[in-house]
Amino acid sequence: MKRIIQLVFLASLIPALCQGEEDMRHQVKQTQSVVAGLSPELQALFSREMLELQKGMMAMVPLYVAGKLDDIEKIAAQMESSYVLKQNLTESQMHELHAKLPDAFIEQDQQFHYLAGMLAHVANVGKTELVGFYIAKMSESCLACHSAYATDKFPALAGKGQGEHNH
Ligand code: HEC
Repeated sequence: MKRIIQLVFLASLIPALCQGEEDMRHQVKQTQSVVAGLSPELQALFSREMLELQKGMMAMVPLYVAGKLDDIEKIAAQMESSYVLKQNLTESQMHELHAKLPDAFIEQDQQFHYLAGMLAHVANVGKTELVGFYIAKMSESCLACHSAYATDKFPALAGKGQGEHNH
């Protein structure tokens, strides 16, 4: 019986929750959504690449704590070269990206690549403490770009973007 009451209570909450979400979406829509302006093909490619990046980041900590720097080097090198702004693109898609994405976005992308390259390098030379440092720097760079350009996708980051650092 108690269960049923709980269920009924939960059910009655759902419309309210959805309402909240709608309001939030509405607000968030006013922030930048760089990717929304791209062609559907590029959006799909972009999303796929992001999921790959996420997979790479999630693989790193277990490898790091197990001292497997060689594997980290491989992943970091892949991340450095596989990101959407760098490969898989026709010339006209490349043109589209550069025409539609703000310069600051491209800078964030370049910064991310720089960090991935550094991570591959320090892993290659076996500097464990620097490997930890660059893994952290890379997650900061994911966060920085998302806070500025992906608050549609990550509403929890809304209002934390564009150079604001809440340390
Ligand atoms: C240069 C900017 C930039 C960087 C750097 C960046 N992202 Fe993203 N990411 C975005 C944007 C913009 C979106 C939102 C795309 C959208 O609106 O569909 C996104 C979306 C995502 C998504 C959701 C993809 C989906 O379609 O479900 C994941 C996961 C993600 N990023 C992971 C990462 C990780 C992990 C890193 C760092 C290793 C990272 N991103 C670095 C800009 C960036």
